[in-house]
Amino acid sequence: MTTVRIVEVGARDGLQNEKTILPVATKVALVERLADAGLSSIEATSFVSPKWVPQLADAAEVYAAIRQRPGVRYPVLVPNLQGYERARAVGVREIAVFTAASEAFNQRNINASIDESIERFRPVMERARADGVAVRGYVSTVLGCPYQGEVPLADVVRVAGILHRSGCYEVSLGDTIGIGTPGRARRMLLAVADEVPMAALAVHFHDTRGQALANIYACLDAGVGVVDAAVAGLGGCPYAKGASGNVATEDVVYMLEGMGVRTGVDLDALVATGRWISAELGRDTQSRVGRAAA
Ligand code: HMG
Ligand code: MG
Repeated sequence: MTTVRIVEVGARDGLQNEKTILPVATKVALVERLADAGLSSIEATSFVSPKWVPQLADAAEVYAAIRQRPGVRYPVLVPNLQGYERARAVGVREIAVFTAASEAFNQRNINASIDESIERFRPVMERARADGVAVRGYVSTVLGCPYQGEVPLADVVRVAGILHRSGCYEVSLGDTIGIGTPGRARRMLLAVADEVPMAALAVHFHDTRGQALANIYACLDAGVGVVDAAVAGLGGCPYAKGASGNVATEDVVYMLEGMGVRTGVDLDALVATGRWISAELGRDTQSRVGRAAA
């Protein structure tokens, strides 16, 4: 393994879960600073219902104001056709659809069963295909659910397979509540890789129990090449009780570069961005590398 692609989710997964609602200009500056630091896939915002996630009600304004760098992708979350249309109205070229391996979590997060959510995506996928819009897919609660508890591996494999077959170029496997440990994370990934090619898989770890870097290491060792992370360890899902931040991008970059894996990211610029956005949110960075650089 010589390169790993990082999908930066701080501006979406991070800001969707914050009490403080940042001004549009700050959100735009965050995305632009992340691109300046060398990140090539930056989830910019989310076109979900503003009633459900008021923090990102300004998605259209934010997206439209970003000065996009050539070669950088700016995916956004889309839950339904209404979100797709709002996103397309401001020129979005990549979206992410999201569902879960747990029925109980899906009901709370998107008010739908797993199968209903897949039906809901069908017209979105059709429109995206016709418009040449790339679609990424998320499966949440792949290692456990805050409401249902254990999530059978077969359910994770089934949902990931459906997303891939329905046209997602990549499926990101989310440990939404950061409950996994490396052996289970690796087994889960390898089971999904029997159904979806490893090259089309990504891992998405929240760090609730301090296991995220270890889980990522185990999954890299098992062959995954795409890792989701959030600057300053921002993140969490308002509809997943007990979920805390994503693994910090700074920490992932530090580990990868130390392993001789190229990320294309300027760590100093990223650390500065993490410290800046944390100050904007009125708290300390959750990145260990970011703190050590103080
Ligand atoms: P619903 O209430 O069942 O939907 O919500 P509805 O169709 O009945 O609509 C209700 C109202 O919302 C209506 O407005 C719609 O127009 C409006 P009203 O008529 O009452 O005035 N609405 C919208 N407005 C703007 N954009 C839209 C939209 N859709 C409906 N797209 C729905 C269903 C899916 C919309 C809702 O449950 C929702 O938005 N949920 C999103 C929750 C969320 O964003 N969670 C966090 C993201 S997932 C995550 O973080 C996990 C991840 O990081 C991976 C991991 O960690 O595992 C990806
Ligand atoms: Mg997440």
